[in-house]
Amino acid sequence: MRITTGLLLLRNSRKTECSANQFLAFLGVRAAPFALLATAALVQAQETVSVWDGVYAQEQANGGKVMYDQQCSLCHGADVLKVRSEGPPNLTGPAFKENWNGLTVSDLFEYIKKGMPRNNPGHLTSEQTASIVAFILTSNGFPAGQKELPTDPTGLKAIRFDAAKPK
Ligand code: HEC
Repeated sequence: MRITTGLLLLRNSRKTECSANQFLAFLGVRAAPFALLATAALVQAQETVSVWDGVYAQEQANGGKVMYDQQCSLCHGADVLKVRSEGPPNLTGPAFKENWNGLTVSDLFEYIKKGMPRNNPGHLTSEQTASIVAFILTSNGFPAGQKELPTDPTGLKAIRFDAAKPK
């Protein structure tokens, strides 16, 4: 019944040039939230920045190096830049960047915070994780900026991990 009425109205609305909003308003509770969600997703997509935009502070990355040396180097290599052919993956270089390409810095952040160090995961604070991520970013050649890398999910989700600099 409801659908039939909706279609009827859609047909009528073409004739009378009702706006899409009026049509959605008629469908009411069912359709409106989806329209809102779509709009919100669009706004969020427009506000994202890239790892190429200077999203961490150099000092933060320096602090991250100290943590890397203590908690990550055992498995990921004493020299983060040196490519190893076996063992745990390199955290720098083309293969690493390809793994995270198109995801957000939030994905990398959560992966590390929840899953690393592999032999004792789950104890890194958000601040510690952010400095380690900053260290990984600087080691992969992404530029530093004025502000520190945020520790909140919304801020982190707004930063895209682009392996190559967007044109
Ligand atoms: C005990 C060894 C070990 C330690 C210590 C360790 N990792 Fe790992 N890490 C691994 C292994 C093994 C993998 C491969 C995925 C897996 O098996 O979980 C990995 C995967 C990763 C990845 C994903 C790499 C990719 O190519 O996508 C990241 C990022 C990472 N580790 C970060 C860290 C950070 C940061 C630390 C320090 C806080 C750390 N790891 C400490 C063993 C370790």
